[in-house]
Amino acid sequence: MRIPATPSTEQTSGPSAAEGEQPAVDPTLGDYPRRYCSICHQVVRKEFKPGPGGRPDASCPKCRSLERHRFFALLLSVLEPVLEDLGTLLEVAPSPETSPLLAGLEPRRHLRLDLGADNRLVDVLGSLTEVPLPDDSVDLLVCYHVLEHIPDDRAAMREIARVLSPGGLGLLQVPHRAGTLTDEDPDAPVEVRLERFGQADHVRFYGDDFDDRLAESGLALQRVTPRSLLGEAMATWLHTNPDELVWIVRAVPAGERAPQPAPLDLAPTSLTRTLDAMLGEMLFLRGELVTHRREARRLARELEQLRGSGVGPVPAPPGAPRPLHRRVAGRVRRELRQRLRSG
Ligand SMILES: C[S@@+](CC[C@H](N)C(=O)[O-])C[C@H]1O[C@@H](n2cnc3c(N)ncnc32)[C@H](O)[C@@H]1O
Repeated sequence: MRIPATPSTEQTSGPSAAEGEQPAVDPTLGDYPRRYCSICHQVVRKEFKPGPGGRPDASCPKCRSLERHRFFALLLSVLEPVLEDLGTLLEVAPSPETSPLLAGLEPRRHLRLDLGADNRLVDVLGSLTEVPLPDDSVDLLVCYHVLEHIPDDRAAMREIARVLSPGGLGLLQVPHRAGTLTDEDPDAPVEVRLERFGQADHVRFYGDDFDDRLAESGLALQRVTPRSLLGEAMATWLHTNPDELVWIVRAVPAGERAPQPAPLDLAPTSLTRTLDAMLGEMLFLRGELVTHRREARRLARELEQLRGSGVGPVPAPPGAPRPLHRRVAGRVRRELRQRLRSG
């Protein structure tokens, strides 16, 4: 993925960022001082707060969303055209960050289900291993960071395949380490779980065979990541986890086998190129701003020196327009006087 590089901050003018293709993601992107939250749509003027386990720069200080929630919001926007006229939406382990987004899809029925470990706001207290819904009845199922808690995760996956309607979609996410096999032990004591699975209530850490488990349970899948959907530059700037996978699943019709999943497609798209160009332009303009600020400070110092040397202001040539800042200041003064007079 390529975006135009930021010009040097010494450069005062020159080609716009879009005029030159430069190598790779600009390293200054990661240092960009502000953060944007795609859940609450606020700009934060500093880093995000640490997330679970002290993970730095993860949680929005305004709405507490995490990386996965912020990417979920964007993914949902992209999928929205195919999520029209939803019948039943099943949200497993609902979170306050994502439930309102899903409600915004205006499903005819929005069921929130959880086992009850985390005191979530739900409609049904129950297990994903025994969903109290008929076959083929769910048009959208969202299940983020739940399967790693369930000892019999295959039973839960089979339930997902059972309840999904023929055109229905599931969006799944689990903690996952690429290039490894799933490490699991539902009977491991807490300290071992913490060490091996990262959390006391996790019973496994998924590896690449997660795909096989889904397929064996009757689910066809596609994978998407912030990097594949948004491009590396935007994924970096938004402070997502660029390679954190989301599995988009469908139920395989009875008697058929799940097709082999396509490899993750990281080729540039019109969307990623557009986002790359936009961020390149943003960094370019930021560079310009830094340069102009520096120049303004230099001029201010020069002015001070001139004042100190007793040289008076140089009169403007006759007929020259007054500088903009003087015109604005004059207008503000007149307005203030008028307001003071009128009480
Ligand atoms: C890490 S939290 C979910 C986080 C949330 N989905 C998010 O992305 O912010 C895990 C949740 O899974 C729920 N859970 C664990 N086992 C479950 C099961 N068998 N069926 C349904 N929910 C389960 C727990 O009660 C807990 O609320």
